[in-house]
Amino acid sequence: MARIIAGVTSSHVPAIGAAIDLKKTEEPYWKRVFSGFEKSKEWMANAKPDVVIAVYNDHASAFSVELIPTFALGCAAEFPPADEGWGPRPVPVVKGHPELASHIAQSVILDEFDLTIVNKMEVDHGLTVPLNLMFGSPPEWPCRVIPLAVNVVMYPPPTGHRCYMLGRAIRKAVNSYPEDLRVVVMGTGGMSHQISGPRAGLIKSKFDKAYLDGLTKDPKELTRISHVEFMREAGAEGIEMVMWLIMRGALDDKVKEVYRFYTVPASNTAVGHIILENLEPKTKSRRPASLRGGATRKRAAAHGIRQVAVRSKQ
Ligand SMILES: [Fe+2]
Repeated sequence: MARIIAGVTSSHVPAIGAAIDLKKTEEPYWKRVFSGFEKSKEWMANAKPDVVIAVYNDHASAFSVELIPTFALGCAAEFPPADEGWGPRPVPVVKGHPELASHIAQSVILDEFDLTIVNKMEVDHGLTVPLNLMFGSPPEWPCRVIPLAVNVVMYPPPTGHRCYMLGRAIRKAVNSYPEDLRVVVMGTGGMSHQISGPRAGLIKSKFDKAYLDGLTKDPKELTRISHVEFMREAGAEGIEMVMWLIMRGALDDKVKEVYRFYTVPASNTAVGHIILENLEPKTKSRRPASLRGGATRKRAAAHGIRQVAVRSKQ
């Protein structure tokens, strides 16, 4: 059976991609950002997922004001990098997983989430920058990637609660896929930032750090944050953080936070990143009941035998 092993969130600032492509990662300004992802790359290399479900938003590359799907699932075999105005990024073509993606589409739509199915799509920095941050710059991406594009560009974006519940539906879908696959869900975008208007350059570290705390400990509380509150507290583009709740909804209620990184700024954005692991599923004892301690204790009590606990020396 397929299983979601972990969730990752990461900002997807386009300037991070430009720094990689123009080989500026060792410059002091950028080294501060990239050094925060060294441990993450190690973690990902050890996690070895078969599939990443990458929740991101398209920035008028694949879609435009002519077509605004709220949730669009990439079911194609390949997703080439988009030309965002200065040529496609020099990154590998993203290889999809059409079978799992189609299974997710069926399961989630029958669970009454009306996804748009996308069989041809180019992907922009919203997806490729987080892949770079987690995998580096290999000649080929080391696993399959299923893009899930969320509209957070044109009003109205989905609510945080809707995103969280979609994550729940995705978890159910993955858990019912028969092939043994290790799946990581990535939520991208954020953290606080605003790129235009009188508040351009706004960053709210206090809000961001509280959001990271909530993501680990109390994600349901985060689902109550309204669009207006996101805009007020995290800037107009801070609304991207609703996408992180799809990732969190796809995980178990209790998770283990294994890594966190936060720095400001990268370009005009707060960079936030967290890795949450699902706890290992508990395996039931396969020993017959008669051999388990409980039964032994009951039998001993029935015969009036007092059991003495023996502590092993370790
Ligand atoms: Fe973005």
